[in-house]
Amino acid sequence: MRRTSGLFTHSLFGPVLKIFFRDGKMPSLVNTEIEAAVKGFLIDQEKMTEVVERMTKEIKMGLAKDTHSRAVIKCFVSHVQDLPTGKERGKYLALDLGGSTFRVLLVNLLSEADVEIVSKSFNFPVTLMSGSGKALFDFLAECLSEFCHYHGLENESLPLGFTFSFPVQQQGLSKGILVAWTKGFSCEGVVGKNVVTLLQEAIDRRGDMKVNTVAILNDTVGTLMSCAFYHPNCRIGLIVGTGSNACYVEKTVNAECFEGYQTSPKPSMIINCEWGAFGDNGVLEFVRTTYDKIVDKVTPNPGKQTFEKCISGMYMGELVRLVVMDMVARDLMFHGTSSQKIQERWSFKSSYISDIESDAPGEYRSCNKVLSELGIVGCQEPDKEALRFICEAVSSRSAKLCACGLVTIINKMNINEVVIGIDGSVYRFHPKYHDLLQFHMKKLLKPGVKFELVVSEDGSGRGAALVAATAVKAKL
Ligand code: BGC
Repeated sequence: MRRTSGLFTHSLFGPVLKIFFRDGKMPSLVNTEIEAAVKGFLIDQEKMTEVVERMTKEIKMGLAKDTHSRAVIKCFVSHVQDLPTGKERGKYLALDLGGSTFRVLLVNLLSEADVEIVSKSFNFPVTLMSGSGKALFDFLAECLSEFCHYHGLENESLPLGFTFSFPVQQQGLSKGILVAWTKGFSCEGVVGKNVVTLLQEAIDRRGDMKVNTVAILNDTVGTLMSCAFYHPNCRIGLIVGTGSNACYVEKTVNAECFEGYQTSPKPSMIINCEWGAFGDNGVLEFVRTTYDKIVDKVTPNPGKQTFEKCISGMYMGELVRLVVMDMVARDLMFHGTSSQKIQERWSFKSSYISDIESDAPGEYRSCNKVLSELGIVGCQEPDKEALRFICEAVSSRSAKLCACGLVTIINKMNINEVVIGIDGSVYRFHPKYHDLLQFHMKKLLKPGVKFELVVSEDGSGRGAALVAATAVKAKL
């Protein structure tokens, strides 16, 4: 990654792109009224510093026993105390629920250099997201069974790591109580229950495989573990995808909600921050806009996951759509007319933001494609510039807030060098996200603190297998 003034070279995904950070500076074709409408998304250095301060306070509250119950950033203990050594071996199954797809994986840790992963993504019927818990877990077990039979694994007693990417209060590596659903899920009868039991019961009900669920983990933890397998200095796992969250390695003595925090012989514990809930107590109002409030109201969990709703892929597209609809209503874009499609809630996918921002300045190839998918015809260049400007405002705020979160964690850990393992569609596919994150982190961190942002491959596969391996070892 090389940097020149204002121009960044980004070579993570395919062709090298020259990127200019406009950071809310208006391109000449964009109307001043549109600029005023997106102003709320532009957070300056002072506000970012304030976010870091407030988040630091909330993380400390989540960790401490006395304040944990009323803290919004819960800082759940993951019960994962061992980072990978690279010597873990064996065959494990993994389930991955909570991102854009549901997957079943078979992971064979053959050697440090040789990890075989076979996986299958299953179509996840949307109706399951709000149906009964039993229907959900029966579906997971059915997919697992199909996968096991296809690969001739039905008679093998394989340990399974369950990547379940929701706020879970873990009481052990294989016991986790769902605290709340996020990301549009609202299945009945699961909140307050041990999800490992629910999954295992569904597997056992079928009676056609010998799988044993040995561990439950958050996707951030899988991401950290997977990255640490190759980068021993990895201490933070971050997801910026459908949802957003981070975990990090804390000193066990600071993890007060872990029963053995004073006596454990192991010096560290991975903490699943659940930072998505930051701001649920109102402390983030100074970075929220009226559009954020509208998005919040139409979600199944209003008033919850405030930070996540400003950052993650599930909501970014809808934020852009709401701004655009407002501009159309005020006759500032598209000659005051839109299409049926764009009037539908959630029709503006967050991937459109990545597409639109991938166009080189002054070119509109991807933008035209998006507009045509949305059924919007006859756009002029100023409309396209305005659309890009709105996308940039929303994605930059996301990256800035994420940078604040990472800086908060690095400061809390009080370390001078760290590798951060990252996964999620926004980070992977947005053409500038990595550079924006890096740029703003550098501006916020104390001088001399070094960090590296690394795409973490297969957290929910290799990461889940590594946590399952820890669980199996602990039981021996
Ligand atoms: C969940 C987290 C998860 C994150 C990223 C959030 O909605 O609460 O547990 O890590 O999404 O998938």
